[in-house]
Amino acid sequence: MSQFTPRVFSGIKPSGDLTLGNYLGAIKRFVPLQKTHECIYCVVDMHAITVWQEPEDLHEATYEVAAAYLAAGVDPREHVIFVQSQVVQHVELAWIFNCVARMGWMQRMTQFKDKAGKNSQNVSLGLFAYPSLMAADILLYKATHVPVGEDQKQHLELTRDIAQKFNNDFARSIAARGYDPEVFPLPEPVITGPATKVLSLRDGTKKMSKSDASSMATIYMMDDADAIARKFKKAKSDPEPLPSEEKGLEGRPEAANLVGIYAALADTTPQAVLNQFGGQGFGAFKPALAELAVEQLGPIADEMRRYLADKATLDAILHDGAERARAIARTTMDQVKDVVGFVK
Ligand code: TYM
Repeated sequence: MSQFTPRVFSGIKPSGDLTLGNYLGAIKRFVPLQKTHECIYCVVDMHAITVWQEPEDLHEATYEVAAAYLAAGVDPREHVIFVQSQVVQHVELAWIFNCVARMGWMQRMTQFKDKAGKNSQNVSLGLFAYPSLMAADILLYKATHVPVGEDQKQHLELTRDIAQKFNNDFARSIAARGYDPEVFPLPEPVITGPATKVLSLRDGTKKMSKSDASSMATIYMMDDADAIARKFKKAKSDPEPLPSEEKGLEGRPEAANLVGIYAALADTTPQAVLNQFGGQGFGAFKPALAELAVEQLGPIADEMRRYLADKATLDAILHDGAERARAIARTTMDQVKDVVGFVK
């Protein structure tokens, strides 16, 4: 795999207000990767429309995701921030991948099964093909590392399967055209840290999600201090004090979740949090957690509001990002089309 330059790609859907799960599971982790990798961060609006989005909401949410990247500390000069629909090659490659991926692979996707539920005959075709577009996002840039939350792991495995099958199916053509040994890397998921699956504050069996019907279940990145404090105070917990060892959190999903959130916000480990709070009850821990969350999220939310009040600056950043993304995307597509046998 050494023929591929290390490159990071990740994306977030503009399909509702960003949550603490998106921040801790993804955005916060995008920032340090800039020191070691070339990074490309995308607002995946074409993924968002696989389920119905009000056009005005989609428009605003697209800017919100871009503003979050910037406010959290992604540098758009050194790295790339762009909107998926502005780089048409994503759909071009996704179509080719639709012809590489097998029905059986797609039918195994648990996220599709969860989202479609009993309604599987009535969801969009796009929702079914979603992981193939996601593979195209990543492989268009020949990305080698993909920072995501735990819920995306299966989609990353599928991306690797698609890359591998493309490389195998077209091996002869790839070699004949001098692109060997492979066109696509097998990208690695980067799922690290104490908050790769932030849970709903009301239900320790569900992940925190943009689309939860209860706003008390979800901390949004742009919540004010009062809302954050109220939601943590009401968060489901249990009557036991916090343990002093991590294994004492086993079988206590709500407690483990709150400790994980604290650890991720404080850039430390769950064990270090328990060293500090072990033996204390939630009456003491929750206010400390709320205070830390306000301290960390407040300045980012302020910065997001500043960007959102200046769409001209956001547009300039996104257009520049799209242009740089397109330059890479065109090179990959020239190669892919050549390998597949399309006439120039
Ligand atoms: P999306 O928009 O649902 O979520 C964006 C990112 O946030 C992470 N995340 C969480 N992490 C921890 N706890 C949670 N409760 C939580 N909720 C969300 C997600 O894992 C994700 O990293 N399919 C992707 C978008 C996508 C993509 C890509 C990602 C499209 N193309 C290419 C990486 C590479 C998604 O729906 O993310």
